[in-house]
Amino acid sequence: MEDRKLCVVMVGLPARGKSTIAFRMKDNLVRDGIRTRIFNNGDLRRKLISKDTSSHEFYDPNNTEGVKLRDKIALMNIQKAIDYLNNGGNVAILDATNASHKRREKITNILKRHTLLFIECINNDREILEASILRKITHREFKHMKKDEAIQSFKERIRYYQSIYTPLKDEINFVKLDSLSNKIIAEEITDDIPYFDWLRDFLVTDTVRNLYLIRHGETYFNLENRIGGDSDLTENGKVQALALAEFYKKKKIPVIFTSAKKRTIQTAEPIRELQQNCEIIPLDEFNEIDSGVCECMSYEEIRKEMPEVYSARKVDKYNYIYPKGEGYVSMKQRVEMGIRKALYLSANSQNLMIIGHRATNRMILSHFLYRRKEDVPYIYIPQDKFYHIVATQDRKFFQLKKY
Ligand code: F6P
Repeated sequence: MEDRKLCVVMVGLPARGKSTIAFRMKDNLVRDGIRTRIFNNGDLRRKLISKDTSSHEFYDPNNTEGVKLRDKIALMNIQKAIDYLNNGGNVAILDATNASHKRREKITNILKRHTLLFIECINNDREILEASILRKITHREFKHMKKDEAIQSFKERIRYYQSIYTPLKDEINFVKLDSLSNKIIAEEITDDIPYFDWLRDFLVTDTVRNLYLIRHGETYFNLENRIGGDSDLTENGKVQALALAEFYKKKKIPVIFTSAKKRTIQTAEPIRELQQNCEIIPLDEFNEIDSGVCECMSYEEIRKEMPEVYSARKVDKYNYIYPKGEGYVSMKQRVEMGIRKALYLSANSQNLMIIGHRATNRMILSHFLYRRKEDVPYIYIPQDKFYHIVATQDRKFFQLKKY
């Protein structure tokens, strides 16, 4: 096992997934016996500065007092990182925006005896940014503000950082990461970076510690074997949702991802009710397979009225695309985007919950645990059980559980 030292410097505007990536790296390195610690400037600021630092004025580059305080916090964390590396730590991660070249130059100078790796997180997806801001403002530092005020304040804070932001270019060792798609956009490595192959792997692999993958409760359409549509839960479906809520009430579920359909949201609502702090985020990407001309028909009606559709789907269910609709093959990409968004927005939570549909849940399960394409459309997705999925670098399993 290597015993070398590395300091990773995160770079990026607020709400770009830096902390999530930092945490994923740490989690995996620690599991491999590499001593790693994160030094987060925001956490230290909230701990040490008693005055309210949630207002955007604090981040104005022309606010000399704010700049001084933030520089002080940054220096303290750099010193803590050095101490850690000098006292047995292997990898120190400086988690902050580190947005200006000037700040990064300072870090490079102070840490000149150490190997540095800069990781810039980039994500300009508007929708995901909005959702990410909504998550950020649930932090207790915004508690005294009204929701709209907090959103505006956070956006203003981002604008201040944008005004001093310089993307990585002249730094010695860096990786630019599309932090939503987990794709490396650019890589400039000059030195021999300890643990680099590991880190690279963690940056581009989707992992999930506990994914609770649930199908919505019974609907009126289910009773008639009808597909698609936007049906409500039956009384039985509501009872199933309440049972789920009871089952999960002792687990911490900070966010529930659903589709945009009523049946998944109605299943999520009672679960949210019994949680301390939980929000529902509906994503179109988790909508059920669009069955085009067959929407709202029963399987029996399709067999009788469109026998060609019925039999063609039977022959090759994975590749078959409903006329004017989708097939498993064509929904893969959008479901994967949904998974990316859910992972991004759930940040570092231990538990991730997705309430989806039969076909979408099949795709989600097979994303984390490889299944042959031809088997995917037949994965068992019942309504009275859920899948618990773990897919980390060293553990991969799923279990069908009753609630
Ligand atoms: O509950 C029914 C349903 O979710 C339909 O809306 C959807 O078309 C179907 O299941 C997907 O399952 P399959 O691909 O096996 O028809």
